[in-house]
Amino acid sequence: MKIILLCGGSGKRLWPLSNGVRSKQFLKVLKDKRGESESMIQRIWKQLQEVGLAKDTLIVSSEHYLEQIYHQLDYDIEVLVEPEKRDTFPAIVLGTTYFVENKKIAKDELICVIPVDPYVEIEFFKQLIEMASIYKNIEPNVFLMGIKPTFPSQQYGYIIPEEYSAAVKKVKTFREKPTIELAKTYISQGGLWNSGTFMFQAKYILDFLEKQQLPSSYSAIMRKYNLLQNSSFDYVVLENENNIYCMEFDGTWEDLGTWGVLCEHFDSNVYGNASTSLSCENTHVFNELDIPIHVIGLKSSIVVASPDGILISDKKQSEQVKIIAHHNGRPM
Ligand code: GDD
Ligand code: MG
Repeated sequence: MKIILLCGGSGKRLWPLSNGVRSKQFLKVLKDKRGESESMIQRIWKQLQEVGLAKDTLIVSSEHYLEQIYHQLDYDIEVLVEPEKRDTFPAIVLGTTYFVENKKIAKDELICVIPVDPYVEIEFFKQLIEMASIYKNIEPNVFLMGIKPTFPSQQYGYIIPEEYSAAVKKVKTFREKPTIELAKTYISQGGLWNSGTFMFQAKYILDFLEKQQLPSSYSAIMRKYNLLQNSSFDYVVLENENNIYCMEFDGTWEDLGTWGVLCEHFDSNVYGNASTSLSCENTHVFNELDIPIHVIGLKSSIVVASPDGILISDKKQSEQVKIIAHHNGRPM
């Protein structure tokens, strides 16, 4: 099995720390086992090494992030640079056709796509390896890993299985980022969140491209990248695919894409030149500026200041920053 590690997102929901050049996956806001700061990509890379998958991993990313990837991981690792940022469907197509054209994979071999932003324990990767061996018995077009939802989020994809008891479930419907009402309905029907990992055979993508009359060789795709839909794999492929199976993962899984979730992993309430009063509760301040920030009496809030801007937000509503940052025309 080969791995495609998607590492080209801009992390709009972590503005103003994350932007088109300095993205969330490189922010050193996590702590490793020894208490040292580490970034999301460093954490995932260590985990891939621990389960023996790093040597089979191709990182697909943007030119802007190349130096940071090499600097944070190793100058020896394999990084595929996309001609432009066009979301995850084109990035996955590029990675898959690169493996095939360079004879790094047979057409019926498995590829597992992994996003860089989930916070998971090592069991997550062990389950992916187990899923790869189960795959042969069922041969679905796409095999997903589902997570039990804890609230009706509009930020995730929903997997609605046909039956619930079996460990390996056939999927009835996949719906990306539904409305809050639909999210509630899906949860009441036993729906799962999509973890963002996709397992398929290389030939599945080649057939998909042929059916859509899109270029299907790596060199043609490099030249005509703008012909591929500027959209995510979830919308382009999963919402239109009938032959999907999934397995549930019941260990720790968190998407570190919003301030509300990311703060839970900070070991201090204050970073940089800042202070909080004793009357503050569950409030985090992250200051990259030289001027001081003092916060008094705020509850469940996040204050973030960088040269790109200042965010003051209720933690539960912090995911809305994606919309604001977009409207400001920031370089996302
Ligand atoms: N190479 C590359 N190029 N990677 C990209 C690009 C791109 O243009 N855009 C996003 N990525 C990477 C991100 O860095 C991340 O690792 C992964 O692809 C997923 O992109 P996100 O932008 O974080 O997607 P999402 O969180 O909104 O939704 C996805 O993940 C959810 C779980 O966290 C979907 O798969 C949802 O269905 C899922 O629930
Ligand atoms: Mg994400």
